[in-house]
Amino acid sequence: MSKITVKAPANIAFIKYWGRSEHELYIPRNNSISMNLSNCYTITSVEFGEQNEDIVEVKYFEKEVSLLTPNDLKSKALFRQIERIRQESGIDKKVKIYSENSFPADAGIASSASSFAALTGALLILFGQKEKFEDKIEFSRQIRLCGSGSAIRSSMDGFVEFLTPKESILAKGGFEQKDLTPKFSQYLHQGSKAKQIADQNHWDLVDIVAIVDPQKKLVSSSKGHLIADTSPYFETRILEMQNRIDLTRKAILDKDFKTLGRCIEEDSTSMHAIMMTSNPPVFYWGAGSIQIMLEVMKWRREDGLLAYFTLDAGPNVHIICQKKDTQEIQKKLKAISFVKWTIYNEVSAGAHIV
Ligand code: DP6
Repeated sequence: MSKITVKAPANIAFIKYWGRSEHELYIPRNNSISMNLSNCYTITSVEFGEQNEDIVEVKYFEKEVSLLTPNDLKSKALFRQIERIRQESGIDKKVKIYSENSFPADAGIASSASSFAALTGALLILFGQKEKFEDKIEFSRQIRLCGSGSAIRSSMDGFVEFLTPKESILAKGGFEQKDLTPKFSQYLHQGSKAKQIADQNHWDLVDIVAIVDPQKKLVSSSKGHLIADTSPYFETRILEMQNRIDLTRKAILDKDFKTLGRCIEEDSTSMHAIMMTSNPPVFYWGAGSIQIMLEVMKWRREDGLLAYFTLDAGPNVHIICQKKDTQEIQKKLKAISFVKWTIYNEVSAGAHIV
C-alpha cells in the first residue's frame, strides 16, 4: 500500500476531561464535551519502509522537522500505538511517519488530540484495518488507546461528547487493581468512547485563540491527570459537573449561547481550581491569561458583547463567540498587549482522509 494521509482537528473542550479512574486504558472520571477547530489541525502521512525501526518525523508550527524519540509519556504512548496496531494487523513492517501541525504544540491547544487522532487513523488504514477507522465509535476507542483521551473527540464531526461508563464516574479514588478483571477492563474500554452531539453545520460558533505564550507547557496534561484527585475539591467537581454536562449538551442542541457560555466558563475555572489545588499544584494561567479573562467578562458587562473564555492545560485563552461578533472581538484582542497573535476557528469536521 502506498502513502496514507489523514487530517485531524484539535478540539476545544467546553466541559473538560481532567482526572482518570484508570490510567493504562485512559478511562476518564467524567464525560467531556468539545468543538472541533477548523484552523488548528495536524496532517499525518504514513507509509511502510524497509528500515529496521519506526521513523516518526514531526514538523511543529514554525519549527524545523525533528525526529521523535520515545522520551516522554506522550511519545512513548505513540510508539506503543504503532506497535499495537502492527501486532493486531499481523503485518510485520516498519513505518515512516511524517506529521505537520498548523499551530503551536503543547501550549494548551490540544495538539496531542489532533496528532494522535490523525496518526491512529492513518495507521489503521495503512495496516489494512480501514473498517476500524470508518466505524467512528470504534475509531474513537482506538484513538484513546494511543494515549490521548481528548483526541477521542476529534474522531467525529462538529460537537462531540467523550463518554465514560457510570461506574467510572462513581469510582471515587479510581479503580483498584483487584477491580480490574479482564472482563471489567473490557467493559470500561467498550464504554469509554465518543458520541456526536451535532455536526459542524449545526451552529456557526467561533473559537478565537488568543496566544499569550506559544512555549511548551511545564507540566503535561498526562502528568496532570495522575495527580488530579489529590485536590481536596476533586470529588466535589465530579459531583457538581454532572448537571453542567447535561446543560451543555442541551444548550448546544438548542443553540442557547448564554447557557452554553456560562457552562464553558464555569467548567474551565472549576478545572483550573483542581489543577491549582492538586499536589503538587499546577498553575497554567499567566498574567496575560488573567487579563484576558477579566476583559471578556467586562465586554459582556459593559458592552453587552457575548463572548466566553476557556483555557485548557496552558496559558492561551480560547474565546468562544458567535460568528457575527468576531470582528469586534478581534479588534478588542488586538488592543491587549499580552496577545501575541490570534487563531480564528470555525466548527470543523473530524478526522478524515485527504
Ligand atoms: C485540559 O487528552 O491531553 O485539555 O489522556 O493524558 O492524553 P491524556 O490527556 P489529554 O488531556 C486533556 C486535558 C484538557 C481538557 C480536555 O481537553 O478535555
